[in-house]
Amino acid sequence: MVAREPLKLAVLVSGNGSNLQAIIDRIEAGELNARIVCVISNNPEAFALTRAANHGIATIIHDNRGFANRREYDAALVAILREHGVRLVVLAGFMRILSEVMVSAFPHAIMNLHPALLPSFPGLHAQKQALDYGVKFSGCTVHFVDCGTDTGPVILQSVVPVEQDDTEETLSARIQREEHRIFPEAIGLFADDRISVEGRQVRIPS
Ligand code: GAR
Repeated sequence: MVAREPLKLAVLVSGNGSNLQAIIDRIEAGELNARIVCVISNNPEAFALTRAANHGIATIIHDNRGFANRREYDAALVAILREHGVRLVVLAGFMRILSEVMVSAFPHAIMNLHPALLPSFPGLHAQKQALDYGVKFSGCTVHFVDCGTDTGPVILQSVVPVEQDDTEETLSARIQREEHRIFPEAIGLFADDRISVEGRQVRIPS
C-alpha cells in the first residue's frame, strides 16, 4: 500500500493554544498523519504563536486592523491559505466569525471546536452559559463551519459532568481535557478520508 501524504493543515488561533499543542503532540508522536503548514493568529500577543515557533512551525499574524470589513479580511486569509496549499483549516480558539468568503472557499474543510454540546450554548462564554442554565452535563463539540455561529454539521462530541461546586475555570479545565482528545481525533478521521457529509449528517464508517 502507498503511504498517504500528510494532510496539510492550517491552525487558526487567538489565544493560549493548548489545543494547537495537543495537535502538535499527536503529529510528533506519529499518531496523526498531518503537517501544520502554518499557524495564523489575529492576535499578535497569542501564546499559541510561541508554541508554534517552539516547534519550528511558520507563524503568520493576520490582524484585522487595516481591513474595511470581514469579507476583505477573509479574502486575504483565503489567499494565504491557498498559497500554503492548505486542505483543512482548523479553528483552535480562533475568536472571529468567518464570512461566506472563507466558508465557500473551504466547503466542509473548516473545523471548529466549541466548549459546549451544540446546539446548546453557542457563541461566547459557553461554559458560563452552561453553569448559569444549571445543566448537569456539558462537553465539547467539533463541527464543520458553515455561515452560522456554531451551527455546522457535528463531527464528534464528548460529554463531561457539571459538578455542584464548579466555577467557570474548573468546568473549562474538565472540558479542555476532552477537547485535547477529540480535536486531533476528528482531524485524523479527515486525514484518513473517513468523513462524509450528507446534509447535517456526518458519517464515519466504523
Ligand atoms: C477552547 O476551549 C475552545 O473550545 C474555545 O476556545 C478555547 C481555546 O483554548 N473556543 C471557543 O470558545 C470558540 N467559540 P486554547 O487556546 O487553549 O486551545
